[in-house]
Amino acid sequence: MSYRLIHKKLIDLVEENPNYASILYFYGIPFQHYPKHTLNQIVNYNKVDLPSLVHDLQNTHQPKGYRALYEVLAVEDISHIIAYIKNEHLDFIRYHLPFMASLVDNLQNEENIHKDLMLDFRYFFFEFHKSFVEHIKEEEEIVFNYLNLLERILNGHTPMGKEIFFLQKNSIAKFISHHKDDDDDMKGIRTLTDQYRLDEQSPLFMRIFYHELKNFENKLKIHSRIENELLFPKAMRLEQKVGKELERIGKKN
Ligand SMILES: [Fe+2]
Ligand SMILES: [Fe+2]
Repeated sequence: MSYRLIHKKLIDLVEENPNYASILYFYGIPFQHYPKHTLNQIVNYNKVDLPSLVHDLQNTHQPKGYRALYEVLAVEDISHIIAYIKNEHLDFIRYHLPFMASLVDNLQNEENIHKDLMLDFRYFFFEFHKSFVEHIKEEEEIVFNYLNLLERILNGHTPMGKEIFFLQKNSIAKFISHHKDDDDDMKGIRTLTDQYRLDEQSPLFMRIFYHELKNFENKLKIHSRIENELLFPKAMRLEQKVGKELERIGKKN
């Protein structure tokens, strides 16, 4: 195990590599709560699996780019793509948003940040948080349920009552136009941070916060492209097939 890593103070670790901050958070160690402690001291009372944490710190890697991910997922059927997307949603909700929220909270303790800017950060971040959670909820409750129903129909299920109403009320074309409007949820934050611009005087917490926002935005762009360029075109084809099937059995209208 790396002696160098485990005997370094958390504040020095994240200074060395801002990616460490989110990894520590995922292991239940918000670095801002224990800046002066070493990893070795923290793990003793946080009951953390030190070897696995050190392994993750030593292997911070760039996540798969869009192309590579597209190629892996393109051969999968819709239900697998949905499972992948749901898993990412869970990751966003469970880890990334709470981590960024904890950083926003922490900015309050920063003396070098103007109070007005601090309030703007809170406002824009929590507005983004709210609309992003709604975006996810809508995808899961409406889009994925709609696709799930289409797949079941294709496998022989006959829609009745509420299901017929749900089918008539929705369409992939409607989801696509709505999704495009929601696609740039982070615009306000980007403008406020002047495209995440930092200078040499920027405090460490702000640097970590901007770093995380930027990473999250990149992740989100890829996530959205998978939905727009892979899931929706496949869904469109599925919808056409089901449309024909429903016409055949005379159920849709
Ligand atoms: Fe999504
Ligand atoms: Fe989306």
